[in-house]
Amino acid sequence: MTSTAPFTVAAALFLAIATVVAALITPALAVPTISAQKAQAQWKTISKNGSGYEGGLWYSFWADVPGHSSISIGPDGQYKTSWNGVSNFVAGKGWPTGSPTRVVSYSGTFSPQGNGYLSVYGWAKDWSVEYYITDNWGNYRPTGEFRGTLVSDGDTYDIYQVFRKDPSPSGGKFQQYWSVRRNRRSSGTITIGNHFKAWASHGMKLGALGVQFVATEGYKSSGSSSITVREVHA
Ligand SMILES: *[C@@H]1O[C@H](CO)[C@@H](O)[C@H](O)[C@H]1NC(C)=O
Repeated sequence: MTSTAPFTVAAALFLAIATVVAALITPALAVPTISAQKAQAQWKTISKNGSGYEGGLWYSFWADVPGHSSISIGPDGQYKTSWNGVSNFVAGKGWPTGSPTRVVSYSGTFSPQGNGYLSVYGWAKDWSVEYYITDNWGNYRPTGEFRGTLVSDGDTYDIYQVFRKDPSPSGGKFQQYWSVRRNRRSSGTITIGNHFKAWASHGMKLGALGVQFVATEGYKSSGSSSITVREVHA
């Protein structure tokens, strides 16, 4: 009996300690699990053409086939994209109606494998003008008919115009206006009005503004991005 007594005491002590430890640990484990679930529930992944309000800001997703791409929409101005062997896709966060005075700040990561753009992107003149203010790109720096330059938000941008004969929401013809930054970046501020004024001085008119958002685009490529968008001025 005497030989088992210490064992019993030790076992009882162990059980008592284990119970206290378990009681202390369980709530500590439960709290992060619940908040992790909540954080996940705030993100929504979309891989179908569409747009709408989700998690605060408006989002837009458009993808041509073949290939796979998606946008994950997070709280506030956050979005993530991933694309794999796409023909073409454009997705991001912003506004269903453009503003000529809007100042946008954005930050994050942009990782194209091949051709891709990170831009303030929009359509105008009833889907007959597609415009880009491009701050980052992959293995191809977009170009077109050179129209001039402007200095804005800490760098020089080259202005290009492109006439396209491709399927578009307005039919088979549209124009592209481009401002392309000389040095790439993945965070900063874009004063949209500076570009609109510079384009207008070269006869590149916009008319009524349609969608306007910070966009990740992939063209015949793969890649990913994780971006937070903020409106500094409407
Ligand atoms: C999105 O729309 C385009 C036409 O603009 C269509 O070709 C494409 O298949 C659509 N993409 C998806 C993912 O349904």
